[in-house]
Amino acid sequence: MRPRTTDSPAPPPAGRQLSRRQYVRFAFYKLDPLWRRLSDDEQAAQKRELSETIRTFNRRMLLRPYSTVGTRADAELLLWQIAESPLVFQELATAILRTKMGSYLNIAYSYFSQTKRSVYEIRVGGDSGDTEEERLVIDPSEAKYVFVYPFIKTREWYHLSQHARQGVMDEHIEVGKKYPSIRLNTTYSFGIDDYEFILAFETDEPADFLDLVQELRETESSRYTIQDTPIFTCVNVRLDEALDTLGGLPIDEPLALGEARESWVEVCALSELEPGQTRTVFLEGKMVGVFNIKGEIYAINNRCSHARGPLCEGTINSDECSVVCPWHYGKFDLKTGAAIDGVVKKPVETFQTKLENGMVWVGTKLPPPGGG
Ligand code: FES
Repeated sequence: MRPRTTDSPAPPPAGRQLSRRQYVRFAFYKLDPLWRRLSDDEQAAQKRELSETIRTFNRRMLLRPYSTVGTRADAELLLWQIAESPLVFQELATAILRTKMGSYLNIAYSYFSQTKRSVYEIRVGGDSGDTEEERLVIDPSEAKYVFVYPFIKTREWYHLSQHARQGVMDEHIEVGKKYPSIRLNTTYSFGIDDYEFILAFETDEPADFLDLVQELRETESSRYTIQDTPIFTCVNVRLDEALDTLGGLPIDEPLALGEARESWVEVCALSELEPGQTRTVFLEGKMVGVFNIKGEIYAINNRCSHARGPLCEGTINSDECSVVCPWHYGKFDLKTGAAIDGVVKKPVETFQTKLENGMVWVGTKLPPPGGG
């Protein structure tokens, strides 16, 4: 991708690019118990093949694995997928089916949806809550749990006036604000799959989610819900860890308490990333923006810390080694990730980069020894 540079024409008005939606898939798998009768070596080999296959999609979609072993009887593995096009979901599903382990995996549940602006006034924002633009971009957190919650409203709900529905939603939103440990991702499924909404609540505190759902059942909006089951409690784990929860000899090397491990992903050939050009890649469930600035490669979280604007599409200043977000023009230092101008207050994460045999690689940064 070749973003604008400071020599380029003026950027479009803020908000022009805010209508782009993302496609989202929640694919829940259940393993055929016959797989568990294979030999230890065969199980480990199959898990490695599947893991490698899934990882090859890291350049093209944001993919987060979760385990539902121990929380659901009818599903064991969730692959939460987020992409600009739904076709890549099909390619991933086919690639999984072609693996040996794929022949033992059944889809237990599948939900397909899109991000979209809410038709209600959310009245949150500022530094403490999501902005409307953020709702168009899913950027999963590091929370230990995600609760996937599909639901359908009654037709009567849609026949209420907008004003009446806003009033009901105001009460609903006020209840939600009482649980700041919970982060909500709302996606819409009207016409493209069976449910109307697919929600994903992220939190480290399952008890907070239980209390929230119980309290929401007492609100007026609950009267207008036809169906809001099944609900899935999913545990955030690394991919190999998720496969190990399915059984067989472990392929994941467990981390000691406080230990972090580097993780690398190949981006592209250096010849495909010329000075002034950018690329995106997904690493550990995050979208990383990769920039070639006068021959030096820099990598930062591609999601602006203000409202998740796509930094790779921003305006680059090569002399300053900075990028200006295309949404509200916050400026970031590409070397340090620091927020240096405009509305942005928080830095963005930076990543390691390296060149190997003419290929560009991006890796996670380890915390300094002793923490910090
Ligand atoms: S999303 Fe607002 S400045 Fe980037």
